[in-house]
Amino acid sequence: MSPYAHITGWGMAVPERILTNQELEKMVDTSDDWIVTRTGIRERRIASDGETTASLATKASLKALDVANIAPAEVDLIIVSTSSPEYLFPATASIVQDNLGANKAGAFDILAACTGFIFGLNIASQAIRSGSIKNSLIIGSETLSRIIDWNDRATCVLFGDGAGAFVLQAGEEESGLLSAVMRSDGSGKDMLCIPGGGSRFPTSVETVNQGMHFVKMNGREVYRFATRVMVQSTHEVVRKANLSLDDIDLVIPHQANKRIIETAARNLNIPMDRCVLNIDRFGNTSTASIPIATCEAIAEGKLNPGDNVVFVGFGAGLTWGAAVVRWSGPFPGLRVVRPPAIRFYARLRSFVKRILRKIDAVIWGSLDSRR
Ligand code: UT7
Repeated sequence: MSPYAHITGWGMAVPERILTNQELEKMVDTSDDWIVTRTGIRERRIASDGETTASLATKASLKALDVANIAPAEVDLIIVSTSSPEYLFPATASIVQDNLGANKAGAFDILAACTGFIFGLNIASQAIRSGSIKNSLIIGSETLSRIIDWNDRATCVLFGDGAGAFVLQAGEEESGLLSAVMRSDGSGKDMLCIPGGGSRFPTSVETVNQGMHFVKMNGREVYRFATRVMVQSTHEVVRKANLSLDDIDLVIPHQANKRIIETAARNLNIPMDRCVLNIDRFGNTSTASIPIATCEAIAEGKLNPGDNVVFVGFGAGLTWGAAVVRWSGPFPGLRVVRPPAIRFYARLRSFVKRILRKIDAVIWGSLDSRR
């Protein structure tokens, strides 16, 4: 029988710097009242100079590995979902792999905006279910503050920075990811995008002068789309898992707007106390919002082993998707692994490898010049 993909570790990392609505009132023509009533957001976290998408992802991953009690070298696959990658390439996942010292892992990024964490969760789970890998890290990480136009009140009040990570492990018991739905509709590509900086409009003085490297959004259209697909994909994914909505203990939706979540919950006939809502403190952290909300739900005792949980999200692409997970928790184990301590050796190994690569280049360079 094929193994199941259990979620055995979780972790989140958010910057310390808090940006309040009152501070935003001084930056753009907005008000705390408008932001709270239209979105539910009161404050968000903003990365400081040293913090990046990879550094937040690494922090969240170390916590997740610690909970799962597995060493970085046991991880077979690392997937980072992000819309604010460290670079266009290499993948942010490669940097995280190096930071962690996960020296046996393949690592790559996926770009499916706010839905990316659900897509990544499904991809990693299917790799586990097929028997091709045993342990995987899936991370949602964003520093959206770096790609937002801080003069555009329609977007700058919405987004925040942060990261969340899950460890997935193969297990025999019927638990973990039970079903998933992944959807896209590229005809809505203009509704939410960064137009400049890619192959369509390569970075130039004009693209920068026109602010094409910033997030552009048709909020109203995204709003209408979101309320529709959240309901549709929740119904679909629950049916696929051979469950009914009554079997679902908790819904953890993408945190884009409190009103979107409330409307979806009402249309699904699910009381709000079965939905996780933390947008007031973090804003919209895109693909990181679901794992961050999950970490908080666990810390608050809202999500326990054996519970059926629905993750549901939507975002640029357009993309949307959902997953049903029977919550597992860490596998019992006798040995104690300390992933944060192992990190020191990972940094050391990476440093030595860089030096060796330089020595290698010098030797090959001098051999080449003699030919
Ligand atoms: O993660 C996925 C990505 N994003 C989303 O899911 C966002 C989805 N959309 C939304 O959450 C909502 O559409 C928004 C919160 C973005 C906007 O709320 P809305 O109720 O749809 O407002 P609106 O866009 O219809 O704008 C209403 C008014 C406009 O003024 P007029 O034309 O009525 O005079 C806007 O110019 O509010 C104005 N407005 C603001 N006023 C104060 C827009 N942004 C602001 C602001 N402060 N920050």
